[in-house]
Amino acid sequence: MKVLNVSILLILFLSGCVPAVQQPVPLPSEPFLVIAHRGASAYAPAHTFPSYELAIEMGAHYIELDLHRTKDGKLVVLHNDSIELNGHEVEIDEISSDVLSAFKPAEEFNQPTNEYASQKFASLRVPSLEQVLREFGDQTNYYIEIKSPDRYPGIERQLIDQLSDHHLLDRDDPLPKVIIQSFSSDSLKEVHALSPGTPLIQLYSFKKKAKLSPAKLKKVSRYASGIGVNASVVTEHLVNTVHESGLAIHPFTVNEIEQLSSLISMGIDGVFTDKPDLIITSLNQHKSLN
Ligand code: G3P
Ligand code: CA
Repeated sequence: MKVLNVSILLILFLSGCVPAVQQPVPLPSEPFLVIAHRGASAYAPAHTFPSYELAIEMGAHYIELDLHRTKDGKLVVLHNDSIELNGHEVEIDEISSDVLSAFKPAEEFNQPTNEYASQKFASLRVPSLEQVLREFGDQTNYYIEIKSPDRYPGIERQLIDQLSDHHLLDRDDPLPKVIIQSFSSDSLKEVHALSPGTPLIQLYSFKKKAKLSPAKLKKVSRYASGIGVNASVVTEHLVNTVHESGLAIHPFTVNEIEQLSSLISMGIDGVFTDKPDLIITSLNQHKSLN
């Protein structure tokens, strides 16, 4: 029966009735991408409007968003799966957006030891994806992480529909308006099937050494345009192997000039950073020296 199914599929494919899976779009080789990790999150509370505004002012190419979904189905932008509310840890998918609106993301940022702490952040709330897209429209580019997709069935379709409603997909800009990233390959494959023109980044995190063989990366290149990986495991050999598979590489999270210089000499294509200003100044100096 299985052989019969495969034969039927092959006949349909050869006759043009089944569309071939579209190859991922390659990311442009220039410019070196500065991805504002949770916004300019060294200077303002992560994933808040001030953090994104600062990142855009500083000239970051992308603002990075981490995505979750509340119990009432709203896509919201924050890092963790859970928050502490009234002394209790609560999961985002178990609370409504109304309950989430009581959470103050600045409280963690506004520690006395933080030189950037400010009372002006105290009233900030967790934004919804809709609020972010309405606020910034097409004045920036979005690098969106689907967090914990197993908790949020159908999040891929919901995200693509929302981005499409804002006319952010399948455009002809020098840089893609939207890049989508995830640690989940299943989630990315689903996004690729729904929106093959949207570049995807497969995320990895390794403790000591990156375990990414050419064969593994070849498989990734069937649905993704690049990988994101913790900077501490990036080597020149890894960068070359990734590039030989036709993928870009964006290490996270780079906030030191020395680390940036070392990674640039290895040939990386961009970085996630909490300090877009520092990275951009350093890149400009690097350019004027070369
Ligand atoms: O998305 C790249 C990087 O942000 C992954 O780590 O934990 O900061 O979302 P995290
Ligand atoms: Ca992230």
